Amino acid sequence: MSAPELTASQIAHLESRYGNRFLLQPVPDNELPKGGMTAEEAMRLIGEEMVLDGLPMRNLATFVTTWMEPEAVRVIQESLHTNFIDHAEYPRTAEIEQRCIRMLANLFNAPGETTGARTQGSSEAIMLGALSLKWKWRQRREAAGKSTDRPNLVFGGDVHVVWEKFCRYFDVEPRIVPLAPEKYTIGPEDIEPHVDENTIAVAAVLGTTFTGHADDIRGINDLLVSLKHEKGLDVPMHVDAASGGFVWPFLYPHSRWDFRLEQVRSINVSGHKFGLVYPGIGWLIFRERSDLAEDLVFYENYLGKTDATFTLNFSTGSAMVLAQYYNFIRFGHSGYRFVMETMKYNARTLAKEIADCGRFDIVGSEDDEQLPLVAFKLSGEPGYDEFDVAAQLAAERGWMVPAYTLPPNAEHVKIMRALVKLTLSHALTITLGSDILEACATLDAKGGLHESDRRRVKRNTGF
Ligand SMILES: Cc1ncc(COP(=O)(O)O)c(C=O)c1O
Repeated sequence: MSAPELTASQIAHLESRYGNRFLLQPVPDNELPKGGMTAEEAMRLIGEEMVLDGLPMRNLATFVTTWMEPEAVRVIQESLHTNFIDHAEYPRTAEIEQRCIRMLANLFNAPGETTGARTQGSSEAIMLGALSLKWKWRQRREAAGKSTDRPNLVFGGDVHVVWEKFCRYFDVEPRIVPLAPEKYTIGPEDIEPHVDENTIAVAAVLGTTFTGHADDIRGINDLLVSLKHEKGLDVPMHVDAASGGFVWPFLYPHSRWDFRLEQVRSINVSGHKFGLVYPGIGWLIFRERSDLAEDLVFYENYLGKTDATFTLNFSTGSAMVLAQYYNFIRFGHSGYRFVMETMKYNARTLAKEIADCGRFDIVGSEDDEQLPLVAFKLSGEPGYDEFDVAAQLAAERGWMVPAYTLPPNAEHVKIMRALVKLTLSHALTITLGSDILEACATLDAKGGLHESDRRRVKRNTGF
């Protein structure tokens, strides 16, 4: 005789004793569940789904920090319940934000006392910095009795999408300098034809998302200085140092890209990239106080004190500001330098592994100033492409190494790119090199990906 089937109420009773009910039921996904669940059930439900996400430490597409020290995590955990914008209630957090701004201004060689803002990331910092440039341009034009209806912004095709976003959201004409087949950054000769009296600024990149190289910021500065002296056209420059702002000062301290250059009026940097903090934190630093358009600052009388804000967001956590300060005081100059040199060394090792297998060309050379990453493309035509290699590598070993095409007019160039961060040790770079080689060997044997697999391959750079 077979055992009697359990009734629904018996199952419910046993579930609560031995399991969790989502082992047998679909998860809430369309509306708030009628009743709640225990804290443990909620935690397990989320935890079980998260295993389907990628492992952040194998994500070599992202520039964003995937590991922090346990002591930093403790600082973060202990401040998760404070709202950063409540300056009156949390004045020490506000003071620590200001210390970070002063340290960054100093690192970027600001000529004197200045100001800046803590943001959610470089995107918010760029929106705010570019708004200030637009406001300042309008003031100059109004003072000269000239029209203010056709502002434009000049930048290369190598910028992050946020620059086009700014132009669309805030009604500025984007003047985008296209890339060329062998030229993946821009210089003065590229921007000169596009600059005129309606140019609110030129935006240049220190460490592009595509290959990790920098625009010719010195050359662009020289051009803008000569336009100022020869034609009376005072066009400022903003440097998008989202990734490079924490790399160049330590790896290439003598390279001039920051406030040492006359026309550089503002700089953004992502604390959550090479600032080594978890997302999200970014910074906007002005050369001088007067570079921040005063009209963009809001003064409120809040709990009896006047408070000034210059942000697109309002409420946000304090944790990452404190974590940034933790890193600044924990690492100091020598610590950041050690971390950057280590990443660069491991990137070189990986580049050598990849080059030595004889199937790839490395984009750039050892002498280039570059973010700690390896950008590479297939040499020759083996019968499969970079998208196939990326997908095969992910399928075999779980590495997330993106493949993508470059922006116009270099869109025919396909590139793979591996970020080399602190969690990619020497041993792992060697392993990754041989895993790439094995993925190629598999593709040699079976040919490229099937069309249905190809459609699933991610085609952007990762951020
Ligand atoms: C050059 C550059 N600018 C801006 C951004 C946007 O930065 P965030 O993600 O901090 O908003 C990125 C992100 O990858 C970037 O690489």
